[in-house]
Amino acid sequence: GLAASATLAGCATQKATGPAQGTSAFVSPGGPEVSAAEQARKPGRVRDFALTATANGLTWSYGGIVPGRELRVTAGEVVRARLDNRLPEATSIHWHGLALRNDADGVPGVTQEPIAAGAAHTYEFTAPHAGTYWFHPHSGTQFDRGLFGALVIEDPAEPLGYDQEWVVVLDDWLDADPDEALAELKKGMSGDHSMKHMLMGATSPLLGGDAGDVRYRDFRINGRTAADPQTFTAKPGTRVRIRLINAGGDTAFRVALDGHTMTLTHTDGFPLAHSETDALLIGMGERYDVLVTLKDGLFPLVALAEGKKAVARALVRTGSGRAPAPDFRPRALDGRVARYGKLRPAEHVRLPARQPDRTITLRLTGSMSRYDWAFNGKPYDPAVREPIAAGERVRLRFVNTTTMWHPVHLHGHTYAHADTGIRKDTSIVLPGMTLEADFDADNPGIWMVHCHNVYHQESGMMTLLGYR
Ligand code: C2O
Ligand code: CU
Repeated sequence: GLAASATLAGCATQKATGPAQGTSAFVSPGGPEVSAAEQARKPGRVRDFALTATANGLTWSYGGIVPGRELRVTAGEVVRARLDNRLPEATSIHWHGLALRNDADGVPGVTQEPIAAGAAHTYEFTAPHAGTYWFHPHSGTQFDRGLFGALVIEDPAEPLGYDQEWVVVLDDWLDADPDEALAELKKGMSGDHSMKHMLMGATSPLLGGDAGDVRYRDFRINGRTAADPQTFTAKPGTRVRIRLINAGGDTAFRVALDGHTMTLTHTDGFPLAHSETDALLIGMGERYDVLVTLKDGLFPLVALAEGKKAVARALVRTGSGRAPAPDFRPRALDGRVARYGKLRPAEHVRLPARQPDRTITLRLTGSMSRYDWAFNGKPYDPAVREPIAAGERVRLRFVNTTTMWHPVHLHGHTYAHADTGIRKDTSIVLPGMTLEADFDADNPGIWMVHCHNVYHQESGMMTLLGYR
């Protein structure tokens, strides 16, 4: 597991606060109901982790590295993660994609008090299901400063056969203060078009519409630029599972491994009926797992920042060969690109057919000129909760009325796309499109729904669902 001793030793004098320590008056809204659900699970082995959030100029990170060190547990184990907040402001950790107990969901002001600068907080929850997940603050634009890491939950009865596994975290690297970038965006484009962080028309050549708003310095895989890439090594013929995570704040990536096709096996932690593809598109917050059988040579794994004409990459070396130029774009990027409509779930994760008991329509609204992203024209209000009830089949109907891509995300549940049945927790809704996402309300609490473009989220494209 994670080497916890060094960070723990350093924080022994810090005062712990928050619900887990019982020093706070904050009461989780999910309270006893959630505990009942949690207790129904067989308590597994407890896994202790220590995380320290630190600031180094514009780069904020867990433990001084971006991405933070990967957390890896087995489904059913109890994650006990202590966060020491050494940032200059309050923070939180959200465990993206997990159907966990509500009071560990990490939404400050909703499921917990913010973790004040200098304070600590311990999250404790059962890792409910296997898959590829990640964690990041749910506090303003913080994750775009580098605060994120992979969370891999292993399946004790892993059905996939593979020889090696690589975790690939994609990121857009902003060489500026994200809060200043957001302020510029909010000032609008009516006047000053020279704003240094604004990117006009990151239009996707593949699917149309604007895939992002912000000008980034570069794009990275596991914290490394295309000019200084990480190299994965293996023998030819090795079967590799690649876990792809998009931790970018404002960038969708198109990903391909030069010279190879990929077998898609999972998205957002949940299994798919296997299918072959040349490339895949991954929005902010999404994950894909793929299997690849490696050929002999040197192959760039390339993530094209959609609409932004720049790439992140890693290298895969199984034999001799020279790396192409850092901006090399494999032909596979323009081959078959996996689309939601063509994917199917593994049969055992299909939701049983049922008419929704309740449909919640969320129109995605706003414009680039006003930077007023919202649901149904109303910016986020923590006092407003869309009511749902335990036992219901709920349909979320996202109607994108804008010219932008919006990767929407639901906390605490994994929904099924109504058309294909694929199980996901984060899905890109393209301009003019409607996505219907069904879930069974089986995890009481107050849960956020929002756009995972951090600038859209922070400008107001968030809302809450509340169990009655
Ligand atoms: Cu990864 Cu509410 O987000
Ligand atoms: Cu959005």
